[in-house]
Amino acid sequence: MNAVDYEREVLRMKKEMNAVILAHYYQESEIQDLADFVGDSLELARKAKAADADVIVFSGVHFMAETAKILNPSKTVLLPDLEAGCSLADGCPAPAFKKFREEHPNHYAITYINCSAEVKALSDIICTSSSAEKIISQLPQDQPILFSPDKNLGNYIRKKTGRDMLLWNGSCIVHETFSERKLIALQVEHPDAELIAHPECEDVILQHADFVGSTSMLIKYVQNSPKKKFIVGTEVGIMHQMEKTTTGKTFLALPPDANCACNECPHMKRNTLEKLYLCMKNMTPRIEMSTELMDRARIPIERMLAMS
Ligand code: 13P
Ligand code: SF4
Repeated sequence: MNAVDYEREVLRMKKEMNAVILAHYYQESEIQDLADFVGDSLELARKAKAADADVIVFSGVHFMAETAKILNPSKTVLLPDLEAGCSLADGCPAPAFKKFREEHPNHYAITYINCSAEVKALSDIICTSSSAEKIISQLPQDQPILFSPDKNLGNYIRKKTGRDMLLWNGSCIVHETFSERKLIALQVEHPDAELIAHPECEDVILQHADFVGSTSMLIKYVQNSPKKKFIVGTEVGIMHQMEKTTTGKTFLALPPDANCACNECPHMKRNTLEKLYLCMKNMTPRIEMSTELMDRARIPIERMLAMS
């Protein structure tokens, strides 16, 4: 029997079932190349909301696909691997987050989109790495704030805006692995390279960065910069678009502390081309939630979209 041509089959089924494929920049390059749209969390949420296809095939992690379903609940939302989670979402269970809120009743809860639908429903407003600063700058100066669940993004925004926010103690398993020692060694070897980093990185890395931004902002930065060499402080999947959309530029992955592939997100990488094909063929796994939960979670997400 001939092997299945996954690319061809995915494109054929996409037409047949009237689907749109949305993918995050940390997906395998062949998935990015098949997608109708590749973007950061905010752009993907907007695309999902505006989608008029019957099926949204979401190649990203669970919280992203959940957000797509919440924003466009009449669509079927497929995720190639239901176990594609996120360490930030896992580190912020809804009962503990509810308690955190109850302990600080006068605080406004700004929650990073990397969290479950239950946590979103308990929040006042959602933000992404590209929108957090803009949202916080629109809140009254004397408004106390709880920022969850990424302490590194929270600390970065706290420094940029001067706002004294209470931070949930969470972090990303990928972005917390970068090594300052290895960064400095790389900078000595490549003094002409600029460091660009995602705000989920620890402060010790961000302090060295020439530019900090969301995945889309990092890609735009390297496209527009006159510089030729960049040390990339985020998940390595992003380098595919950087290499694809620029010429004559060199991208060096910021190494993790241990001798591991820890700068690859194990959750994002659960999605493979074969699983993408299978989820479309079998129309499962699907993202399902109660209408009541989606209605509550939609309010703080829509607030973010309006203020971003
Ligand atoms: P972006 O919104 O910058 O794409 O970030 C998503 C993410 O999970 C980073 O680890
Ligand atoms: Fe979550 Fe980190 Fe993976 Fe992004 S890179 S999805 S924050 S675990």
